[in-house]
Amino acid sequence: MTIPTANTALSTSITTPNIASIDDLQNALRAQNYVAERGLATSIYLALKLRRPLFLEGEAGVGKTEIAKVLAQVLGAELIRLQCYEGLDVSHAVYEWNYTRQMMHIRLMEARGDHAEARGKSAAQAPMSAQIEDELFGPAFLLKRPLLQAIDRGSKGPAVLLIDELDRSDEEFEAYLLEILSDFQITIPEIGTIKAVEPPVVIITSNRTREIHDALKRRCLYQWIDYPSFDKELLIVRAKVPSAPEQLSRQVTMYVQELRRAELYKLPGVAETLDWITALVALDAKALDEQIVDETLGVILKYQDDVVKARTELNKNIMAVISTGVA
Ligand SMILES: Nc1ncnc2c1ncn2[C@@H]1O[C@H](COP(=O)(O)OP(=O)(O)OP(=O)(O)O)[C@@H](O)[C@H]1O
Ligand SMILES: [Mg+2]
Repeated sequence: MTIPTANTALSTSITTPNIASIDDLQNALRAQNYVAERGLATSIYLALKLRRPLFLEGEAGVGKTEIAKVLAQVLGAELIRLQCYEGLDVSHAVYEWNYTRQMMHIRLMEARGDHAEARGKSAAQAPMSAQIEDELFGPAFLLKRPLLQAIDRGSKGPAVLLIDELDRSDEEFEAYLLEILSDFQITIPEIGTIKAVEPPVVIITSNRTREIHDALKRRCLYQWIDYPSFDKELLIVRAKVPSAPEQLSRQVTMYVQELRRAELYKLPGVAETLDWITALVALDAKALDEQIVDETLGVILKYQDDVVKARTELNKNIMAVISTGVA
């Protein structure tokens, strides 16, 4: 893989001219308050440059979904989001015929006596001429769902397509996605094949509750997002909660980092760190102490066993570490 030089501007029309390098992209993400280390920024840059979907895996709350949102802002593109769930099917992900409108249209035609065949028979019974059929199964009666919206853009320019939490969908849906991600086209039997003028920027996320097939991964660039380092998390905290006192930001970040080293049922993600510092600022705290941690543990830990463990076994020790590390 060739890493582009600073002078190689991204060629797709979706990219802004000021993103000519990985550094530029990193800075543009930072300007939108997203902190991406070099490895992640490189993957995003290459996904744009090579026009390949980017497949992001990682723990909960580490910033996977946020990447798509921020990227849409950076590129000035529309964000189209497909939230995956068990049972997600073509009618919710790709397109659906607007049956209610179709029926109303048939009734109207009957009432107007437009078509002899339709007269005197119920809509369901009426045999349709090819002309009526074309009308009823034309664009006016098509409900576009996120995947079709992302492909059929007309002159609107490419969108950022977020396929969020793919691991929640069924394997059949994953198989369907393969075709779309390979050719960026969708076939609707009654209309024909719709091909994207320019492929969307595709971000796929997974929390790894199940493995995603190799065939799909092969079509994507892959990036694992880990819990952030202390430095990265502190940058995120500063960017997202600028009103927090510096000492509190450092202590909270260090506390969460220490907490992640413990054996807990569910480790806190960045989302919890941000919730916690926001809560502490709301309580007008200037620094952490054992008591305030004790009182607010429910903001970062969401299982009672974890809360009890933190309260009885971890809090004292972590506070001791923090007092040596920050003070
Ligand atoms: N690198 C980062 N820079 C800025 N904000 C971040 C970063 N990582 C996480 N966040 C913030 O943390 C919160 C959670 O991020 P996000 O929802 O993207 O996580 P996720 O990985 O999609 O989690 P889940 O798996 O639960 O959906 C958001 O408020 C996001 O802004
Ligand atoms: Mg998410």
